[in-house]
Amino acid sequence: MTSSKDQVILGIESSCDDTAAAVVDEAGRVLSSVVVSQVEIHAAHGGVFPEMASRAHVTAMVPCITKALADAGVTQRDLRAIGVTRGPGLIGPLLVGLNAAAGVGLGWGVPVIGVNHLRGHLRSADLDEQRVRFPALLLLVSGGHTLLAHMATAHDVRILGSTRDDSVGEAYDKVGRLMGLGYPAGAKVDRLAATGDGSHLRLPRPMIADGLDFSFSGLKSAMSKYFPLDGAYRLEDLAASFVDACMDVLIEKSRRALAAHPSRSLVVVGGVAASPQLRSAAQTLCAEMGVELCLPPLRWSTDNAAMIALAAWDYLSLETAPRPIAQPNLRVDQW
Ligand code: KG4
Ligand code: ZN
Repeated sequence: MTSSKDQVILGIESSCDDTAAAVVDEAGRVLSSVVVSQVEIHAAHGGVFPEMASRAHVTAMVPCITKALADAGVTQRDLRAIGVTRGPGLIGPLLVGLNAAAGVGLGWGVPVIGVNHLRGHLRSADLDEQRVRFPALLLLVSGGHTLLAHMATAHDVRILGSTRDDSVGEAYDKVGRLMGLGYPAGAKVDRLAATGDGSHLRLPRPMIADGLDFSFSGLKSAMSKYFPLDGAYRLEDLAASFVDACMDVLIEKSRRALAAHPSRSLVVVGGVAASPQLRSAAQTLCAEMGVELCLPPLRWSTDNAAMIALAAWDYLSLETAPRPIAQPNLRVDQW
């Protein structure tokens, strides 16, 4: 490792079902990133089982931190700070990461900063290389959130619209469950949709012409009418129709937000940013609007601790960094 003492931050993430630790330098260079997924544990339940998630985080946390430091070739003496997710997320899982960070921080004499997970997602597009040019429009699409925000700078974020009910990732997962695809279903629904034709049936585009807020629960209910399958429609066509509806809504709202809030970049982050359909639709929109598309590489789209460590670097410029105390309901415009 070439960074010298005090030049790296250890990030720790445990807000949902991934235990993660990573080491990142001030330029956003990722020296290591370890993610321990709990997907197999939760698959049997069709969603994240919070108590089991907390227990799995307890088991994975210390080995995860140890490996992140070893992979980066650093020790605790090289740490400028520890950035740990304090919210939003599930309270039990959050507490596991916060307690681990408090323990190692106290033992090693390293300051611990409580990081907003959503600030992690919005900074994820700058991991490894500076991609975002400001002002920028943020489309954050994950399992927990769907929102549009305008960023004058990375520190000046204004929410333009968010979902009134389910997130788009949640809709993907619920529709995937209807289809018997297991959990999480996002990538599987996309793969199935790519082989289908969505033009046979017309699903609703909830709130498409109505402001910049989103609603996805009606789309899931509209899909549920087709199940159990009775032979009238093919599963891949239903998947294609669902994905088309999601993309139409996400892209139309982004188009409207870009028109109203001129931006140099469109930043698409969060787990659903891994969707090839969304990546390609966002590319077309940006070409049309003369805006640069900023997509983090796939490994930074889903939950990881490198984005938390990069966000933690921003916090060092604050007079007082937020304390590492759980806040399950943080918004993207809060530190
Ligand atoms: O950002 P993330 O890893 O965790 C949260 O903070 O929520 O997002 C997880 C969500 C899940 O709902 C999952 O189904 C969805 O991202 N997802 C996808 C794809 N890969 C993951 N959705 C659509 N297409 C994908 N390829
Ligand atoms: Zn997330």
